[in-house]
Amino acid sequence: MIRVVQGDITRLAVDAIVNAANETLLGGGGVDGAIHRAAGPELKAYTRTLGGCRPGDAKISPGFRLPARFVIHTVGPVWHGGDQGEAEVLRSCYRRSFEVALENGVRTIAFPAISTGVYGYPKEAATRIAVSVMRAFEPRFDEIIACCFSADDAERYRRLLAE
Ligand code: APR
Repeated sequence: MIRVVQGDITRLAVDAIVNAANETLLGGGGVDGAIHRAAGPELKAYTRTLGGCRPGDAKISPGFRLPARFVIHTVGPVWHGGDQGEAEVLRSCYRRSFEVALENGVRTIAFPAISTGVYGYPKEAATRIAVSVMRAFEPRFDEIIACCFSADDAERYRRLLAE
């Protein structure tokens, strides 16, 4: 099933939370910063060994001090107006994160709203992409959570999931 939750993804006791990372995988602001703070310094020591991550791809790490068992780090597209393949890269972030989750026996997974913060992706379009890939993978997971930081984002997910 797909569930919408409003809150801090670092608090979710699921098999995997997805991180909206950057290509270095060495941490940053936003949800990336929150995940690294909550996981502790071992996370960066681990992700340093992964050799970075290309936009649209996803790599897994342990969750360390997080309640989640794993973190799946994905790198979303930076929004440049929509004619540079941003939609395909964002779709790939969700698909690759699900694929990596399946490879690691993950049954419950939570996503933040990838690329809709610092990377500036328009929220309505990004949510439509996220929901469509979540629906495609829904049968293969016990629970898929869209973890929205704001009430506004949660409302948008609920509206588009109901369509
Ligand atoms: N829990 C859940 N969602 C969160 C949290 C949190 N603790 N903190 C922020 N968010 C939400 C934001 O409100 C936004 O909706 O995550 C979404 C993604 O925003 P960003 O974290 O800014 O990620 P993104 O837009 O993909 O930009 C990635 O920002 O932090 C840097 O290193 C990161 O360079 C990368 C870039």
